[in-house]
Amino acid sequence: MKFFIDTANLQDIQSAYKIGVLSGVTTNPSLVAKEGVKFEDRIAEICQAVPEVESVSAEVTPDAETAEEMIAQANELIKINGNDPKITIKLPMTLAGLEACRYLSRKGVKTNVTLIFTVNQALLAARAGATYVSPFLGRLDDISEDGVLLVDKIAQLFRTHNLDTQIIAASVRHPDHVTRVAMAGAHIATVPFSVIAQLAKHPLTDQGLVKFAADWKSSVK
Ligand code: E4P
Repeated sequence: MKFFIDTANLQDIQSAYKIGVLSGVTTNPSLVAKEGVKFEDRIAEICQAVPEVESVSAEVTPDAETAEEMIAQANELIKINGNDPKITIKLPMTLAGLEACRYLSRKGVKTNVTLIFTVNQALLAARAGATYVSPFLGRLDDISEDGVLLVDKIAQLFRTHNLDTQIIAASVRHPDHVTRVAMAGAHIATVPFSVIAQLAKHPLTDQGLVKFAADWKSSVK
C-alpha cells in the first residue's frame, strides 16, 4: 500500500516527502480553506514541492454542479504547473461527477472520485473510468458504520471484476486504520502528517533509544 498525504499545508507535505514515503497528495476545499491561500497557487506550489509523486488531487469547486462546469474547471486545473501530469481531478460522487469522470478519463486525465460511502458508488466510479476512488472510512466510523469493511468490500469487488481503479482509503484518523486498510487491500491510504508521524513511533523504540544512549555514555572510549 502506498501513502498519500491529505493536506494543503506545504510544510507537512515537505516533511513527509523528505522521509521518502510519499506517492501523492490529496486536497479538498476544506483543507485549502484552512490554509488561507489561493487554490490554484497552492496546487502549483504542491506540485513543485513533490516532483516525484504520481498524483496531486485538485478538487473541482462545490459551485460546479453540472458535468460541463466540472469539465471547464478541470480544463483550467490541468494547466497548472505547465500541464503537470501529476494533477488529478477530484470529482464529487454525483451523476454529474461521473459524467465528467468519463469524459476526462477518456481524454487521459487522471481522476479521483471522492465522497464514496458504498460499494455501489465505487463500482459506478470505476466503470466511469476513475483512476482512483476515495472511500471516507473515518466519516463512516463517526456514524457507527464500519469504514474498513467498506474498503475491504470494494477491494474484493475490484479484484473479482478485474477493475484497475485504485482505492484511496480516505478520512483516515489513526494508525490502526492504516494497518487495517492495508490488510483489506487498499492501494493507497491518504493520511494527515500527524498520522504518518504516529506510525513511526513506539514506546519501546523510545525506551530502547534512551537505554542505548545511556549505555553508550558509560562505555569505554
Ligand atoms: C480525502 O481525499 C479527504 O480529503 C479526506 O480524507 C477527508 O477526511 P476527513 O473526514 O478527516 O475530513
